[in-house]
Amino acid sequence: MKKVRIGLVGGGTIHNLHLLAYNGIPTAEVAAVCALPADVKPFAERWRIPKTFTEIEKICRDPDIDVIDIGLPPFLHSKAAVLAVEEDKGVLCEKPLARNGEEAEGMVEAVRKHGVFNAYLENYSFFPWAEEVKRFLENGVLGKPVWMRFYGGGSGPYSPWFFKPELSGGGCLIDLGCHFIEVHRWILGKKNPTEAFGWADSLVNKQAIEGGVEDYCLALIRYPETMTQCESSWGLVSGGEGFSLQISGTEGTFSTGDSPRIKVFSNASDSPYLKQVSARMGTEKGWFLFPFTMEEFLQPMVKQMQHIVESYLGDEEPRHTFRDGMIVNKIIDTIYRSAKSGRWEKIDLGGTST
Ligand SMILES: NC(=O)c1ccc[n+]([C@@H]2O[C@H](COP(=O)([O-])OP(=O)(O)OC[C@H]3O[C@@H](n4cnc5c(N)ncnc54)[C@H](O)[C@@H]3O)[C@@H](O)[C@H]2O)c1
Repeated sequence: MKKVRIGLVGGGTIHNLHLLAYNGIPTAEVAAVCALPADVKPFAERWRIPKTFTEIEKICRDPDIDVIDIGLPPFLHSKAAVLAVEEDKGVLCEKPLARNGEEAEGMVEAVRKHGVFNAYLENYSFFPWAEEVKRFLENGVLGKPVWMRFYGGGSGPYSPWFFKPELSGGGCLIDLGCHFIEVHRWILGKKNPTEAFGWADSLVNKQAIEGGVEDYCLALIRYPETMTQCESSWGLVSGGEGFSLQISGTEGTFSTGDSPRIKVFSNASDSPYLKQVSARMGTEKGWFLFPFTMEEFLQPMVKQMQHIVESYLGDEEPRHTFRDGMIVNKIIDTIYRSAKSGRWEKIDLGGTST
């Protein structure tokens, strides 16, 4: 059986989830991991990964690896991707593709030049409701979509780099809004939007305020026949966690999300499992409201990784490529520009709009 040999760059939150997915795919073999010295050994032992590295250059040069999977803070995405493609490896990159459109453009240019397999890891389009609403639209159930709204948020992320714009590229918009933007684009058949309007502010989350990144963002993104609305937050106090998608079409409406799936009350603040699953809730005791069950969150991750491995082995383009990630970055740049100017701003996709 032909297998794809994967080298993970990063050994943090997201790669724990990638491994849960890869471990169920017989054609995927995680051959090595590269992370900071403090993280790499415990991570490799936990997942029984045979080889470890602490330098990105070295894992990229390993001849026993076919594909590099990047799960690093965004300021390192471009560096890791370029090193990987220079060694003619396939490359997978977590969202956001880069800190901004210009950096993302360099990554797209690098994969083009080397002609390698590239995938932008946007797991939200693999949620069952995302695939279902796309089928509804393609089969005319909702008519033409005129308005689409995504809302999602919690009390903010767990690692300090998220709050440093020079490392992350921004706050809740680039962290959460990037999912909503790409899923809207994908549902609309990857049409390209023309202009955007945004409001962003740092209001509640202490780390976001100190770091100067937004913990609230509302954005309107205009497509040729559809207005989309993306609302993201890191400033919702515990109990406010939520997620929803609504679509209004000329012949119907669609709605999902809105209410938490699970409510848990706990005083056991020292439980590592609770700490892990409630990482974005900013509370240690009391009520925990989960918008998804862990199973519901993992299922699309498994589906995404199966799709990526099958696409790589079948020499096919995956659902989301670096080019899609770059377009998302350029839309986000435009929203940040509008949040400063207070006006609608044109989205400039340069030569990438077709
Ligand atoms: N798709 C999703 O739902 C989702 C969820 C969480 C995170 N992410 C994305 O995944 C990426 C990683 O986020 P995370 O939450 O796993 O971060 P994290 O803080 O949990 O882990 C970061 C990892 O990067 C490693 N690292 C940092 N600098 C390094 C270097 N110079 N060389 C090698 N390794 C280095 C660290 O050792 C650590 O293992 C981000 O782009 C984030 O936005 C996506």
